[in-house]
Amino acid sequence: MPLTVHVVTLFPDYFESPLRVSLVRRAREEGQLVIRTHDPRDHGKGAHRQVDDAPFGGGPGMVMMVEPLARTLEPLAHTHRVFLTPSGAPLRQDTLDRFALMDEITLVCGRYEGIDQRVVDHYIDEEVSLGDFVLLGGEVAAATIIEGVARLLPGVVGNPESTEHESFRSNELEEPQYTRPAEFNGWEVPDVLLSGDHGAIDRWRAEQRALRTQQRRPDLVPNRDADS
Ligand code: ADE
Repeated sequence: MPLTVHVVTLFPDYFESPLRVSLVRRAREEGQLVIRTHDPRDHGKGAHRQVDDAPFGGGPGMVMMVEPLARTLEPLAHTHRVFLTPSGAPLRQDTLDRFALMDEITLVCGRYEGIDQRVVDHYIDEEVSLGDFVLLGGEVAAATIIEGVARLLPGVVGNPESTEHESFRSNELEEPQYTRPAEFNGWEVPDVLLSGDHGAIDRWRAEQRALRTQQRRPDLVPNRDADS
């Protein structure tokens, strides 16, 4: 059964190119991934197909109106509906693991200053953020989720080990990697990797992962004091 991803966006063109390259393209061609875009402007109001209006209570910017989004989302009620917003829960690998197991998911991209809260209250199952920064809309986050999920679909990444043992599944950053040549410009590859001693190589890689994680992401290192 393929994963169907519905994307609700005022900018369906945005998705043209990222969905046509690399593994995402292969997953679509092989039928494991189906992408459908839905433009709320098709349900916009009046001759101008209006989809946004000034916020009640005043303030800058425009808010996406409830009706065009409601009409777009009503036929998608059977799917898991995710709103992309900086106010959502941070996107993590386990979020993608969860989405990759679903049959149908809907990614709702906001634009302007926000969307009418009634849309969120009545049509959204989960809110997800790409991180603690503000983009112009949810499209980049939706493309990120599609790519992150596509590579988890069965048969999409050639070697399943490469998704099983990677950073963030083990809560550790990955060790540095090298390939031929063993020397370039006088820059050498660590001797241990050329030694053929697989025990030593495994130990070196484990040390590098621990070191990098400690240096770059101390927040991922379990706090030993917490248990005592
Ligand atoms: N839309 C605007 N900023 C966003 C973010 N950081 N994450 C998800 N969607 C967004």
